[in-house]
Amino acid sequence: MIEYKNPKLLINKSNFQAGEICWRSPSNIAIIKYWGKHELQLPRNPSFSFTLNNAHTFTCLAYNLKETKGISFELIFEGKENTSFHPKIFKFFEQVVEIYPFIEQLHFRIETENTFPHSAGIASSASAMSALSLCLCTLERKLFNTLLNQKEFLQKASYLSRIGSGSACRSVYPTAALWGETNSISESSNLFAIPFKDEIHKVFHTYHDDILIVSKIEKSVPSSAGHDLMEGNIYAMNRYQQAKDRLNALLKALKEGDLVSFGTICEAEALTLHALMMTSNPSYLLLKPSTLSIIEEIRNFRTETSIPVYFTLDAGPNVHLLYPDEFKEIISEFITQKLLFYCIDQKYIQDIIGEGPSLASDS
Ligand code: DP6
Repeated sequence: MIEYKNPKLLINKSNFQAGEICWRSPSNIAIIKYWGKHELQLPRNPSFSFTLNNAHTFTCLAYNLKETKGISFELIFEGKENTSFHPKIFKFFEQVVEIYPFIEQLHFRIETENTFPHSAGIASSASAMSALSLCLCTLERKLFNTLLNQKEFLQKASYLSRIGSGSACRSVYPTAALWGETNSISESSNLFAIPFKDEIHKVFHTYHDDILIVSKIEKSVPSSAGHDLMEGNIYAMNRYQQAKDRLNALLKALKEGDLVSFGTICEAEALTLHALMMTSNPSYLLLKPSTLSIIEEIRNFRTETSIPVYFTLDAGPNVHLLYPDEFKEIISEFITQKLLFYCIDQKYIQDIIGEGPSLASDS
């Protein structure tokens, strides 16, 4: 069992230099959904995601020594001082302080912005918490000359990200990531995600994810509350087993480049996620009439053309359209002709599978 708690990671004040570290980190879209957790963000079932490219968070962590001990930071979101994210960041620092005791010796100025609009149905907590975790791991490396091995670095960044937001732990890797124990993959873990680029067919490396925005209204039930409701859901145990079985079938399809099996599992997972919300107590429903209309259009288009375009959904009403690069022109035409009608401002966000986070600066 991996143990990152380390009381030795304290700064020697005599040779300290203030500085700033900036990371760009992407969001990700889950194909097998993480839904249900226990203890400190441990998943009830394994999940699998594609890493996005354009939808990302850019975060700079400026740090300086301070006199008094304790958690201290200011947060600038999209150019403005922001206090609404304070509780989440404060809790995160508290939860990782035994891993990084130097946090209490420093004052941080966190400047952060997203490339995508808030509430666009893109998981901003995944990109935001992974960007911040990557900044902290770079800071560890800088202060203590540790984490020099890239695999160890990313694994620890994934572990910290998980504590910030479960899905964030999958964002630190290029192309695709798997999080949660599964018998079929010996290195898999509930504590951090593992990279999955080399195990999947090349066709998936250039996949597209177009996001059709049907509503920008803040979700009525946040994901954290949705996870909690799984604890009382009578389908929970079957669901966790189903996710494991679907993951094994998905891994086979990903390896073989079997687009139909991939897409069938992908859509089943999206609808299962929302079925679990509807069968929670209290029940809730995040889908909108336009979500269903888009789903119907996609399925009709697929039947007519045999083009392997499939949808998935996050914990919201917006629809993610997944398809191979070779169909980008025809899908763009399809979206313009049939789907934009259902979208807010007749717009959608175009994304592709990405190469993972990048260090933007370290001074
Ligand atoms: C539906 O990672 O946002 O997107 O761990 O409470 O921060 P917390 O939840 P979060 O849940 C994501 C749920 C999901 C599925 C997924 O990304 O796997």
